[in-house]
Amino acid sequence: MGKITMGQRIGILTAGGDCPGINAAIRGVGKTAIVKYGMKLVGISDGFTGMINKEYRDLTESDLSGILTLGGTILGTSREKPFKSSGKGKNEISKPVLIKEHYEQMGLDCLVCIGGNGTLKTAYLLSQEGLNVVGIPKTIDNDVWGTDVTFGFDSAVNIATEAIDRLHSTANSHKRIMIIELMGHNAGWIALYSGIAGGGDVILIPEIQYNENKIAEYLMHRVEDNKPYSIVVVAEGIKNPIKDSCSAAQSLSKRINELTGLETRETVLGYLQRGGTPSPMDRVLATRYGAAAADMIAQRDFGKMVALKDNKIESVPLSEVSGKLKLVEPNNRLVIQAQNMGTNFGT
Ligand code: F6P
Repeated sequence: MGKITMGQRIGILTAGGDCPGINAAIRGVGKTAIVKYGMKLVGISDGFTGMINKEYRDLTESDLSGILTLGGTILGTSREKPFKSSGKGKNEISKPVLIKEHYEQMGLDCLVCIGGNGTLKTAYLLSQEGLNVVGIPKTIDNDVWGTDVTFGFDSAVNIATEAIDRLHSTANSHKRIMIIELMGHNAGWIALYSGIAGGGDVILIPEIQYNENKIAEYLMHRVEDNKPYSIVVVAEGIKNPIKDSCSAAQSLSKRINELTGLETRETVLGYLQRGGTPSPMDRVLATRYGAAAADMIAQRDFGKMVALKDNKIESVPLSEVSGKLKLVEPNNRLVIQAQNMGTNFGT
């Protein structure tokens, strides 16, 4: 294999929202490609923007040292969607055409795209245009179809859980209802996992429609039951009870106060969930994904995404992943178990 792969040029880019573990994945791809296969690594700047503007740099093995634990992405990222924006790039040439031209001019044999749903869709469309593409799923939201888990998710759940843990003591001291809003886009994975890990009393996710009167009733029962404080964990994607209001947590806080008379406070955790060093589990997962992607390139297994299924690394065709979302099923085992223990999902 070494002889066949020697000198092949592997482009790598990171696109969409950043998350902890991206650098570990870049390192996993790069070190395996360079050390095991004698390939060369080319880092593309700022996601697909770098392919459109031909902004790249060669990366040596030593460039990959010391990045395992770094948050963010050493390559930079952007939300550029070359197939969506009808706008033309330089010289009025369409962006996908520019990307193809630059891929050739950079002498690439393959392009590794590390990203979430939007990135993997673009990766699929580029593979349809004839580029050799391999996808690596990353996002704190854990909503990529075709894989059990994305890296970034575990770190985000750790951060969110610590935040919920910290809310318990202040909620208890003041006998308040604490509402915490977590990221996740249209999926409730972060809220579900950290809500369970942090002992949330109410967990609201976009996949399960809630009724605010049921939440109010539940919280009042807790008060009658000698539990004068409660933690309400809310995914950012739930329906906002007050139209055009800033955040779901803020409006829910207002509504719960109106319905129960209980004192409420809200916290929107925001980008803290995405920043900083990856958890050990994310470092391992990102490294496994990266190494597997390099192996796929060596085997010329293109047009696919690395995935984890039952703790085994597999590959899934990008055509199957593209355009789909992995959401929490309302009958998810964790949801049922939490309900059986008295956790309220707003129903
Ligand atoms: O996809 C990751 C994510 O952090 C979502 O949870 C959130 O909805 C979105 O990105 C925020 O996007 P932006 O970085 O564009 O503000």
